[in-house]
Amino acid sequence: MNANPPRGKFITFEGGEGAGKTTQITRLAERLNARGIMTITTREPGGAPGADSIRSLLVSGATDKWDPISEVLLLYAARREHLKQTILPALNQGAWVLCDRFADSTMAYQGYGHGISKDFIRTLHAEVVGDSDPDLTLILDIPVEVGVGRAVSRNTSTRSGEDRFERMDKSFHERLRAGFLDIAAGAPERVRVIDADFTPEAITQTVWHIVTDKFELDSPADSA
Ligand code: TMP
Repeated sequence: MNANPPRGKFITFEGGEGAGKTTQITRLAERLNARGIMTITTREPGGAPGADSIRSLLVSGATDKWDPISEVLLLYAARREHLKQTILPALNQGAWVLCDRFADSTMAYQGYGHGISKDFIRTLHAEVVGDSDPDLTLILDIPVEVGVGRAVSRNTSTRSGEDRFERMDKSFHERLRAGFLDIAAGAPERVRVIDADFTPEAITQTVWHIVTDKFELDSPADSA
């Protein structure tokens, strides 16, 4: 790697439960790697040692175990660790960072879902994240019953216990879905919404078209 590589791109994937973000992040990383672009894949809450410890406090246990404001503060504490220890160093080394959830999840889940003041979240965001917002955010949008159904069956088989948010009621999930769409409408330069009620292959193609177009990579129709 040369001494001053161009800064990498910061791409976040967002959406409700069971939207298929993890699969799409893996496939995008493979395609970028095949183009010679170095990537790291990471997720929130988590992505750094302290942030992973905070994750375990947040994703399991009773749905009402945290006061919603405490929950926002924990999420932003984890985010700060993740940014400082993982995201910014990778970007500065020229890697592209593909992140499964970031700050839009806090606005959608805690702001729209739990009704926490959006101004409070924006103020915290400005202090914690500053000008390190993503270059591109892809929101995978899926009907609540489809997404939560998928997430529940996935948890039963593979990672039982990380289901605190999935167990919240349907109206909570409807609010956060509407919240993500509202966030997208307010930030058209950064955010694109993808209808995720399609096959994973079709979504992979859509993601690739958006990324190649946004960052002016060659041959958008190619697959790696
Ligand atoms: P995951 O299931 O996508 O790994 O995310 C863990 C859970 O954390 C998911 O149910 C959404 C929730 N979450 C929030 O409520 N607010 C946030 O800011 C983030 C990053 C995640």
